[in-house]
Amino acid sequence: MRKHIVAGNWKMNNDLNATKSLITDLKNEKNEGDAEVIIAPTYINLDYASQTLTNTDITVAAQNMHQAESGAYTGEISAEMLKSVGVSTVIIGHSERRAYFNESDDLLASKVNAGLKNDMRVIFCFGEELEDRKSGKHEAVVASQLKNALFHIEKVAWSHIVLAYEPVWAIGTGETASPEQAQDMHAFIRKTVAAQYSQDVANNVTILYGGSVKPANAQEIFSKPDVDGGLIGGASLKAKDFFEIVNAF
Ligand code: 13P
Repeated sequence: MRKHIVAGNWKMNNDLNATKSLITDLKNEKNEGDAEVIIAPTYINLDYASQTLTNTDITVAAQNMHQAESGAYTGEISAEMLKSVGVSTVIIGHSERRAYFNESDDLLASKVNAGLKNDMRVIFCFGEELEDRKSGKHEAVVASQLKNALFHIEKVAWSHIVLAYEPVWAIGTGETASPEQAQDMHAFIRKTVAAQYSQDVANNVTILYGGSVKPANAQEIFSKPDVDGGLIGGASLKAKDFFEIVNAF
């Protein structure tokens, strides 16, 4: 059966000193539930995070990676490089990457391929914008994001995939999708995966919700049957808040 996951996407926050102090704080917190805990610091602190968290139950993930194996791609980071510092989980397709760095479905499909080829676990993000929801197109948009960047993968690869539904209008805005909106969309996503692959694949894939999840609303969102955890931005930057969310299961 699918697992619960609570992942903290630190985005472009925390220099080395802040990373050290937050990781120290995180190690002092207690995971009282059954959720896997993941943190995604910035690239330059992944090596430190990964080494410091060896032998703990906190997993370290990258926020992005390049699709090529290696070569003349100034400023980029490959799957192999991530794996060489002990990182084998990567977030791909975050809405900020799509919006500010023009990451298209095609590009994301090639990043997914690179991750799978290197035996990584891919946390694939997607979600509609406010206009899509207002015009009732949110399900169609999400279905096309999945189809265009993910549904080319083989059935066996799904054990390496975590889905993260993040409605763009709820990210960093303080406006959360209601638990019912999250549940409806997660059920739709699962149904879409089942139609493309199988009910078994759909039942086993972890689907995270992201967008203004806080200690105050986590429990209600996580109580929904198709919500298997969260991808947390702002509230992952304080150890106490983050672990209140982790322990909301
Ligand atoms: P916030 O929790 O700050 O809304 O960010 C969500 C997010 O984008 C996680 O990837």
